[in-house]
Amino acid sequence: MSNVCEVRLWGRAAGRRAAGRRGTGPLVGIVLALVAALPAGAQAQNGGAVRAPHGMVSSETAWASEVGAAVLEAGGNAVDAAIATGFALAVTHPAAGNIGGGGFMVIRFPDGTTTALDFRERAPAAAHPEMFVGPDGEYSSSIHHNSHVAVGVPGTVAGFWKAHRLYGTRPWAELVTPSVRLAADGFEVSERLARGLRGLVEGKGSAYPATVAAFSDGGRPYEPGEVLRQPDLARTLERIAAEGRDGFYRGETARLIAEEMRRGGGLITEDDLARYRARERTPIHGTYRGWDVISMPPPSSGGVAVVEMLNILEGYDLRSLGHNSAPYLNRLIEAMRIAYRDRARWLADPDYADVPVHRLTSKDYAARRRATIEPGRAGRSDPTDITEPDESPQTTHYSVVDRDGMAVAVTYTLEQSYGSGITVAGAGFLLNNEMGDFNARPGLTTTSGLIGTDPNLARPGQRMLSSMTPTILARDGELVAVIGSPGGRTIINTVLQLTLNLVDFDMSIEEAVRAGRIHHQWLPDQVRIEQDGVDDATRAALEAMGYQVRVGGGQGLAHSIMIDPRTGDRVGMPDPRNPDAAARGH
Ligand code: DON
Repeated sequence: MSNVCEVRLWGRAAGRRAAGRRGTGPLVGIVLALVAALPAGAQAQNGGAVRAPHGMVSSETAWASEVGAAVLEAGGNAVDAAIATGFALAVTHPAAGNIGGGGFMVIRFPDGTTTALDFRERAPAAAHPEMFVGPDGEYSSSIHHNSHVAVGVPGTVAGFWKAHRLYGTRPWAELVTPSVRLAADGFEVSERLARGLRGLVEGKGSAYPATVAAFSDGGRPYEPGEVLRQPDLARTLERIAAEGRDGFYRGETARLIAEEMRRGGGLITEDDLARYRARERTPIHGTYRGWDVISMPPPSSGGVAVVEMLNILEGYDLRSLGHNSAPYLNRLIEAMRIAYRDRARWLADPDYADVPVHRLTSKDYAARRRATIEPGRAGRSDPTDITEPDESPQTTHYSVVDRDGMAVAVTYTLEQSYGSGITVAGAGFLLNNEMGDFNARPGLTTTSGLIGTDPNLARPGQRMLSSMTPTILARDGELVAVIGSPGGRTIINTVLQLTLNLVDFDMSIEEAVRAGRIHHQWLPDQVRIEQDGVDDATRAALEAMGYQVRVGGGQGLAHSIMIDPRTGDRVGMPDPRNPDAAARGH
């Protein structure tokens, strides 16, 4: 349970617009005392599912879930809590929680209406399709993924600000201030975080003095149990608390980002930052065996691909095939092959490309594609067709439900783990390397995984294609679950399998999140199965059908919430694949 008490807001008048609009505005308000909520500052280990009657937050860190749950307990709605949780993850989960990246938020209101916020990063004005080509005239993976040029114009603060202006109820500063405190006072580093920070400061971050300064103790990696304080980040968050989106996109923070770009040869200018806008979009709405599936539209490929796969699978009696049996996985893999090919062929930023969303998510189209599947046999992915590169962690998903049944699913990211590894000097936060999600170069399509098709090429202002799939499930007009995951292209398949586990196999949210996952993404033409995801006999049966099977690793971190239909309780399920994850409710 979370604690709520009175503390003094730091700094100047906070949340001017929100405060004025809502008639609040005193400098002292009811905000969250999260520090008292966890013993001696230690992060609790993932304790599994949590049940509470009113509200719930399920996220990557106990700190962030605690902050969000405290907002709910203080009377904030799910959007307020999602914003506060997002800022707290930017402090306590620097691998993916962020203000230097971007993401998506899907909202279902208590009356069943829905909306989505797109705060995906955008290409700066100086971007162009050949921008990942080196001085030798060849495509350069390091420019594409590991450079100041790989940084997209961040969207997270604008997205949270827009969500707050449209649907928030608590003063903005109240939602940011707990994270100012967390950054300034510090928090204990877990074993997992210590490992991650060591990798950052000894690896890709070692080239950047501001990264080493922010995420090590004078160059010495933090040990588990030591306290990570982030004073520069605290000051940046203070500016955001006081000035809202302008605290990031204008003034001191914008100046520091632009300076960082100039120093490292990046493209983002103060003008790019001032012009960034989050967009409100209409969610993808599909149905599966009578359930409603509400998910993220383009520039995410997630909602379209999940609904396409569900439509294909609706034509089979999956339950009678048996969960994770070979015949079941055969149908799943073939649906994945079809949807991921369509994804590579068609999906991109709808403001720049003509994306056939309606066709790809129609039941008719699914029926035609289903007819091409031969049960009991592996299909083929044509290697002369287009391919896409692999992605590596990290992204993060969290879920929120409030006392009125408003549900929010957020997935946001820096792209790879710790993004570009570049910390904005003086501002204390990591920048994304999201430009790596644009296609490499016009026409450059290779069997090793590059793609050169037109719709997702880098152009000024365009948003790069994403796989992030924050999703809400409902049935008979009632909220059922909030789900999502990180994991690059595996995200879509993780969300698919969570949905199937709930709908076809009547699993509890605990069982659905724990169950082994598989992934196929058209090319490379192989099935990845989690360690212990299926038994040896099933694996052998898949191989006999003609599948190339690769076993190993965890797939996704699906911090979810489900409503108990009998009691109405919110059941938060942090994914056990991360020992630091936690759900908190009230
Ligand atoms: O937007 C996307 O699809 C990717 N940038 C997400 C990367 C990711 O999920 C890596 N995660 N674990």
